[in-house]
Amino acid sequence: MGLPTQVVTNADLAERIDTSDEWIRSRTGIAERRIVDARETTASLAITAARQALQRADADPRQVDLIIVATATPDYPLASTACLVQDAIGAVNAGAFDLGAGCSGFVYALVMGHRSIASGESELVLVIGADTLSRMVDWDDRATCVLFGDGAGAVLLRATEGSAGIHGTLLGSDGSGSQMLYVPAGGSARPASAETVANKEHALRMDGRQVYRFATQTMADACERVAERAGLPVDEIHHFVPHQANQRIIAQAAKRLQVDESRFVCNLERYGNTSAASVPIALCEAAEEGRFRPGDHIILVGFGAGLTWAAALLQWGETELARPVPWWHSLGRKALYGWARVRSRSRRTRRSIAQWLWRLLVPLTGLRD
Ligand code: COA
Repeated sequence: MGLPTQVVTNADLAERIDTSDEWIRSRTGIAERRIVDARETTASLAITAARQALQRADADPRQVDLIIVATATPDYPLASTACLVQDAIGAVNAGAFDLGAGCSGFVYALVMGHRSIASGESELVLVIGADTLSRMVDWDDRATCVLFGDGAGAVLLRATEGSAGIHGTLLGSDGSGSQMLYVPAGGSARPASAETVANKEHALRMDGRQVYRFATQTMADACERVAERAGLPVDEIHHFVPHQANQRIIAQAAKRLQVDESRFVCNLERYGNTSAASVPIALCEAAEEGRFRPGDHIILVGFGAGLTWAAALLQWGETELARPVPWWHSLGRKALYGWARVRSRSRRTRRSIAQWLWRLLVPLTGLRD
């Protein structure tokens, strides 16, 4: 996980906008959230989460075949955040791309990673959900800014034998609802201009009630359908790891599925809605707390902008988390990250020198590009 250290409580928000701890807690279940400082970005959180996943799995970044970063808040519109992660961890043999499916993004990315492994194309896939929605909300809009937080979570998928792994997947979308949750400007439809900035069109806009209705219907449906695809009744699912948007949405889903709410992993009280990061952060925390046992069936389920929804049913394996990682492996990985930094700088320097030499030589030789 990559979590900013800065904590912003409901009381902190109530000091600057017209809201209250009571309103936020009772309508959403959120008590506080983590917000990035000036030095942190989506990529920096994603890199922390990626390094932690590699450490837990005791894996060599050079063996990673594919990196997928699910995000709605990349560091740059172009190039991808996945490439920044690739460079920082020294995954020199990996393909890398970002995936945009709003808050369903991590589960979408997990399904893509799983399919890449199932096709034989990849053996080791790093799947990350990372977002810094604090950089995209209007901090004067109390209807949206109280809901979101920043963070990143990562998992490493590996090809294995045996029954552990992903047994069912479901992806869905409904673009007719794209304007229920969106950022109006900054894309090709409405490029950035002084006017779009003045109108706050680069901030997230949301029809809260419609999104709420969509979410309560979708979450339970997606769980039922993915369980059906995996050939399992819902009451045989030991744990649900839902997108952490609102405690009331989670409670409604539990009610519709007729399962006890205690089977849902919830941490939104501490982090708010971290968008594509919410499912992997909840998954990682629950795994670290030892909540899952080998053989447990777990459904990961997300919904969000697009509109999109996604679910994956997996069976938990013998956990490697408890196995101590030899200190020299950790040291080796740290050395690799240092080497990755040097490699990245030297490649940039080489390119600059080559360009400088080219500019110098062109007038002397009469050559052109
Ligand atoms: N503090 C205090 N009052 C607030 C407030 C805040 N932060 N935000 C809104 N209000 C007010 C509204 O202005 C409204 O006042 P009014 O009745 O005088 O007009 C009142 O509270 C009720 O607003 P409403 O929007 O109807 O509240 P709600 O019960 O629907 O809850 C959400 C609002 C946003 C919590 C809820 O709709 C929701 O969770 N929607 C889903 C959002 C989501 O999950 N988005 C991400 C999806 S990935």
